[in-house]
Amino acid sequence: MIESTIRSVELKPLHSEATNYKANRLTEKSKIDNFVDNDRKTVVVQGLGYVGTAMLAALSQAKNKNNECTYNVIGIDLGDEDNYWKITQTNQGKSPIVSSDKNINEAFERGLINGNLFATCSNYAYEKADVVVIDVNLDITKKKLGDAYNYEFSYTNFNRAIETIAKNVLEETLIVVESTVPPGTTEQVIFPIFQKYFAMRGLNINKLYLAHCFERVMPGNEYLNSITNLCRVYSAINAESKKKAKNFLQTFINTENYPLYELHSTTASEMAKVLENSFRATNIAFIQEWTEFAEQADVDLFEIINAIRVRPTHKNIAQPGFGVGGYCLPKDSLLADWSYNNLFGAKRHLRMSLNAIRTNDLMPKHVFEIVKSYFNNLENLNITILGISYLSDVADTRYSPADYFYDLCKKEGANLILHDSMVEYWQEKRIAINSDINSLKDFSHDVVIFAVTHTQYLELTSEEIISLLPNVKLIIDANNLINDEKANDLIARGIKVVGVGKGHWNKKDKR
Ligand SMILES: NC(=O)c1ccc[n+]([C@@H]2O[C@H](COP(=O)([O-])OP(=O)(O)OC[C@H]3O[C@@H](n4cnc5c(N)ncnc54)[C@H](O)[C@@H]3O)[C@@H](O)[C@H]2O)c1
Repeated sequence: MIESTIRSVELKPLHSEATNYKANRLTEKSKIDNFVDNDRKTVVVQGLGYVGTAMLAALSQAKNKNNECTYNVIGIDLGDEDNYWKITQTNQGKSPIVSSDKNINEAFERGLINGNLFATCSNYAYEKADVVVIDVNLDITKKKLGDAYNYEFSYTNFNRAIETIAKNVLEETLIVVESTVPPGTTEQVIFPIFQKYFAMRGLNINKLYLAHCFERVMPGNEYLNSITNLCRVYSAINAESKKKAKNFLQTFINTENYPLYELHSTTASEMAKVLENSFRATNIAFIQEWTEFAEQADVDLFEIINAIRVRPTHKNIAQPGFGVGGYCLPKDSLLADWSYNNLFGAKRHLRMSLNAIRTNDLMPKHVFEIVKSYFNNLENLNITILGISYLSDVADTRYSPADYFYDLCKKEGANLILHDSMVEYWQEKRIAINSDINSLKDFSHDVVIFAVTHTQYLELTSEEIISLLPNVKLIIDANNLINDEKANDLIARGIKVVGVGKGHWNKKDKR
């Protein structure tokens, strides 16, 4: 079985470095002092996850008019067992996030060579900051998958992160919140934390500059580009903060081609983020019932969608797929709903957005039901999932649709064979994943799900598919990876091929 071993946590040795670090605070302090001992301004990025990693890359390669590095860039993450390795890797010139975008990896290598990229868990770095960018997570969790109306939310960890900044930064620092937050958070939650600690420290709160500028980063092949070459929306708590935020954003975003969009308030900027993600989630949910209709009616929904997309007003109608994942789309509407009720006193829900989340969460059940329609009993059936991450050529497995599908199949006694060209370890399930595609030949496959549009799967010919998947009986194309020509070829060789939204393939069965 490919899905098998529970990999022991590999991060412990690095954590001992974190313990050493604690004994060596003074050394870390002098390292930071040395690092910033030059004429450049210093930007501290809090949180070395998907967003923070791309920001480190973008900021560390920003250049001034003389083609010199604009910033000293310091990444800060937690010094605990789960996170310290991100600091170690950054200081070795390696991106903490596995990425198919070579520009990200190159930016980290260059940051090491240029000596303008450094990572630490020392809060002392905030004292040295001209700008602090906040890229920490703010979680909201559903009590039960598919029930978007019952969620648990707390600011506790997020506020702890804000407090570390408020306790350490000096006057005249610009704070840019990039994290996705419930609308109203910057004004009602973050600013009061700064007021409290600035008062305690005898600092002038009018000399704090606070902005919100949300991220649209996409961690695929265009990971770095999605920071530097994408329009940004921002706002800030007052005119001076807006001006400083704009000046800062212009130093690393190609604003000539991708202009900045200033909104009136930080609440508006925060709402823009959760609204745009709710719009996308709703668009995807909308197409799900049409997917099922098209399959029932034996028609090709992709053909229909392409015909509709010629209308400029309908260009971005969503396509059928396996499900919705990633850190943002499954949760951002919930943050909006929480804000509506808890920061703005509404006593009603954002029903259309929450219902969309419910539909999207349950999408993988559709593919499960297709499997069940062919195999009544899943006990010991070998079901292969090709693609564990949630997006093409991305290693991110957070809220991946494969997760729910895996649980549904496991519950019925199926054997799961897991492959992903990008993922070696499925963090959420604590399962090692084989990323060598040739290893698939060692198994007997009953059902194979093409789940994610990784380039490696898209490039497979029908001959390769057959040779990689011995004994395969049913192939389900859950994400438009197999074109009609390939499908016809596979069907001609006696394999049943079904596609999500591809009702026209059913016709062949019925003839
Ligand atoms: N992932 C995306 O593609 C994406 C896109 C747009 C916006 N966002 C938003 O950006 C934010 C960050 O997302 P992410 O995907 O990078 O999350 P992530 O979980 O990958 O990274 C967050 C990082 O912050 C660190 N952190 C938490 N508390 C900290 C503290 N007190 N001090 C220092 N570090 C701390 C965590 O250890 C982690 O490394 C979220 O609000 C998310 O919704 C994400």
